[in-house]
Amino acid sequence: MSDQQRDVIEVLEHDHREVEQMFAELESLRGAATDEEKARRKDLTDQVTIELVRHSVAEEVLVYPKVEKKVSAEEAEHARKEHAEAEETLQRLEKLDADDPAFDDELATLMREIRHHIEDEEGEMFAHMRKAIDADELRRLGRQVEAFKKVAPTHPHPSVPNTPLPRLAAGPAASLFDRMRDLATGRGTDD
Ligand SMILES: [Fe+2]
Ligand SMILES: [Fe+2]
Repeated sequence: MSDQQRDVIEVLEHDHREVEQMFAELESLRGAATDEEKARRKDLTDQVTIELVRHSVAEEVLVYPKVEKKVSAEEAEHARKEHAEAEETLQRLEKLDADDPAFDDELATLMREIRHHIEDEEGEMFAHMRKAIDADELRRLGRQVEAFKKVAPTHPHPSVPNTPLPRLAAGPAASLFDRMRDLATGRGTDD
């Protein structure tokens, strides 16, 4: 719609800022006392999970292959490894009730992993992409990432904020990461 298509780095950095905002609110809710605060914390955790999954899968399917080809295979590999670690943390986190003492620890682990990963991406990978990939291609990738994020669900289950994420009900085999990967690859990219 807009002719001011954001390039892929702008799109991804915007996502990073959103995630950091949610993390900051989650930190302010640590040790939440009231039911309302606890519900908000659980709800925010679900939201940040969905956002991280959509973002990470978009990167894995659309962005990292380009990085592999045009920037550095090692950098792409490193980023995929960090995604895999964060995915494991997310999977442990989703099995925990927000009242569980381990919940805060897993949440803190997730924040540490993701903040570190964002630093790596913005400080190194994205900077290298700007040098190695031309502006048109960066904009085209930006369009693809935005299109993917539109078809991916934006919220786990808005009407029932305090229940576990739907993928839990579907069993461990159908993790949201897997479903997103299918969705992203099934749509195909003109690569
Ligand atoms: Fe990212
Ligand atoms: Fe990433």
